[in-house]
Amino acid sequence: MEVRKNRLFLGGVDATRLVGEYSSPLYVYEEEVIRKRARELRSAIGSERKVIKYSCKANTNIEILKIIKEEGIGIDAVSPGEIHAAIAAGFRPEEILFTASNVSPEEIDFAVARGVLVNVDSISGLRTVGRRHQGGDVCVRINPDVGAGHHGHVITGGPESKFGIEYDRVDEITRTASSFGLRIRGVHQHIGSGILDAGTFIMAMRVLLDVAKRFDDLDFVDFGGGIGVPYRKDEKRVDVALLGEKITKEYERFCNEYGKTPTLVIEPGRYFVAESGFLLATVMTVKEGHNHRFVGLDTGFNHLVRPAFYGSYHEILHSSNVGENGDGRDFVLQTIAGNLCESGDTFTRDENGIVDRLLPPFKEGDVACICNAGAYGYSMASQYNSRPRPAEVLVSNGESRLIRRRETLDDMFISRIGT
Ligand SMILES: Cc1ncc(COP(=O)(O)O)c(C=O)c1O
Repeated sequence: MEVRKNRLFLGGVDATRLVGEYSSPLYVYEEEVIRKRARELRSAIGSERKVIKYSCKANTNIEILKIIKEEGIGIDAVSPGEIHAAIAAGFRPEEILFTASNVSPEEIDFAVARGVLVNVDSISGLRTVGRRHQGGDVCVRINPDVGAGHHGHVITGGPESKFGIEYDRVDEITRTASSFGLRIRGVHQHIGSGILDAGTFIMAMRVLLDVAKRFDDLDFVDFGGGIGVPYRKDEKRVDVALLGEKITKEYERFCNEYGKTPTLVIEPGRYFVAESGFLLATVMTVKEGHNHRFVGLDTGFNHLVRPAFYGSYHEILHSSNVGENGDGRDFVLQTIAGNLCESGDTFTRDENGIVDRLLPPFKEGDVACICNAGAYGYSMASQYNSRPRPAEVLVSNGESRLIRRRETLDDMFISRIGT
């Protein structure tokens, strides 16, 4: 993203021109950002045996998955749909780990039939795998009793979390696995999402490493994802090089004690794609209310749910009046609102409701750009209010290309009639 003469450019293309060409609302991704983040992560971990995976729930666009693949990254999938997408993008089954919550027997079969390793997150899941695929391979997800994250909804470790098998039930895990002749190839954890403090990651890592020592012959230890990105200007970026150094050091110490070197795996999602993505939307109405100046966009929480769901902050820019060169004296407090029939459908908010934002004045027809929307944006989008999902476009070096067409009304309804 850059500003030229007070106008916003994405991947070298004028943002308002993109809306002119592909219509509005529109998801836009900068290819270079995805590649840069992937390279940063790969070089951060020094361990000789390492695999970096992409937790593709963050964004499953097939063209984005292909870029990730080109960068030498594997896949963490949480559903048959994500396995399907990864295979369609060219990933080999052995590059994919299937980490599902409350998985069904059919979903387990789906993964095993394709040669994808299943990561179970309960003793009963372990039994289901054992019953159906006796003598097979499996990975187990551990709950290390440590959790972290940007919001309660995304803390996935600790006693309140539904995920993983408690770290102190290793005997039960090994007993159950051996009763079905299952080989435990890896142990896994993921403590939460949006972690900006490296210390928590390392603390949870130590718990998993203690657990890992109790398994004889592991091929890999997977520490999950969760690396946060700065959403606010004043938030500090995680120093991934330093985090990587710390991870590598902890891991080397473990390998010395363990007597062999299982592959070190991490599987971030957000870190790869969040900052690459932008949701462009057009201002439909401006309403001077008693308490707020409402700027109404042609999108809503059906397309980007994070503000409404978590109270998340996303920077919003005025694409043709970024205001970077001015002194901000003409900025006004505004509520940026969506087009859904819900009063919670506002983008400038926290968990308790509207928080007006000082922004360049929007008028009808202007294009607003919601930043950092590449992760958990389109992948959490819905058709709520029966509005189709937007198109997605990839930009790079001044060129743009459609990577998913806009949904149509027929896409939403015709196939469901069963004709
Ligand atoms: C099992 C697992 N791994 C990795 C991730 C990726 O998290 P993040 O996008 O915060 O890196 C998630 C996200 O919820 C997850 O559930």
